Amino acid sequence: MTTDESVRTRGTVFDRDGSLVADYRLGNRSGRPAALDLRLHRLPAELAAPAILTALPGWVVSTGEETGAVLLAAGGRLFRHLHQYTRDLGPELGDTVWTEAGIEARPAAAVPPSALYDIWLAAYPPDHPDRAEHPNPQDVDDLYDGRTLGPLCGFSTVAVDEGRVVAAVLVNDAESLGPWISEVFRDPDPRYAGLGGRLLRHALGLAAADGLPSIGLAVTEGNPARKVYERLGFRHRASFMQVVLPGGERGDTMTPK
Ligand SMILES: CC(C)(COP(=O)(O)OP(=O)(O)OC[C@H]1O[C@@H](n2cnc3c(N)ncnc32)[C@H](O)[C@@H]1OP(=O)(O)O)[C@@H](O)C(=O)NCCC(=O)NCCS
Repeated sequence: MTTDESVRTRGTVFDRDGSLVADYRLGNRSGRPAALDLRLHRLPAELAAPAILTALPGWVVSTGEETGAVLLAAGGRLFRHLHQYTRDLGPELGDTVWTEAGIEARPAAAVPPSALYDIWLAAYPPDHPDRAEHPNPQDVDDLYDGRTLGPLCGFSTVAVDEGRVVAAVLVNDAESLGPWISEVFRDPDPRYAGLGGRLLRHALGLAAADGLPSIGLAVTEGNPARKVYERLGFRHRASFMQVVLPGGERGDTMTPK
């Protein structure tokens, strides 16, 4: 569920006549330069695509589904198809007391990120739609340290069973997105079925009690977690695609265009 918001510089694409075709935020994805939140100006996607393909060979472009589909048809490869959700937080979330028998809820900051590594790796098996190309538990450290998205929020919570972390909800204060659920996962052992959603519900209550008005997240197409979020009252806001454009060398430099 990680979104790189750390790079602030914007880039632009012009056509051969020097007219502005699109603009985007610079970022990176899996070692590739990325054009995040790419927005078209004047031209429809079919006419804008040639200039984008020429300007950004080998880049990952994150954009709306319509433009994404045109870039796929032009030879791009789908990297991720994401759905963005928001949950308004209000008093209906009730009190913040955790009542699950035998399982304790603790602030995530009370345990080291290394306590989450094993279940984080187990929660994303090879066939999972959110499985990273090369899963690296360092990603968990980066969320804890605020390097990926922004500072970890105090209501990030883990569930602990007999001294072992069995579920986690990490929330980061992402400058451009607001409070953002960067990770939700649980031990895949069937005895913990439903625990991820219940812990998330608890964390939402803590966030509401902190006075937060709303919270967001993104989920990959095909991830059954989407059902869990919708049941918990998250509303779909937008969908977008990350498309790897043909050409270029992996690891191109990230010179603003
Ligand atoms: C998301 C997650 C925390 C939800 O935890 P939970 O509330 O305990 O819910 P469950 O895992 O028991 O399952 C949620 C639903 O998805 C379904 N589901 C889970 N894994 C599935 C799979 N591999 N294939 C099909 N359905 C699956 C379950 O049947 C359940 O549906 P139901 O409620 O209609 O029965 C947990 O599924 C998880 O850790 N997933 C892997 C990590 C992940 O994808 N995190 C979210 C990233 S956006």
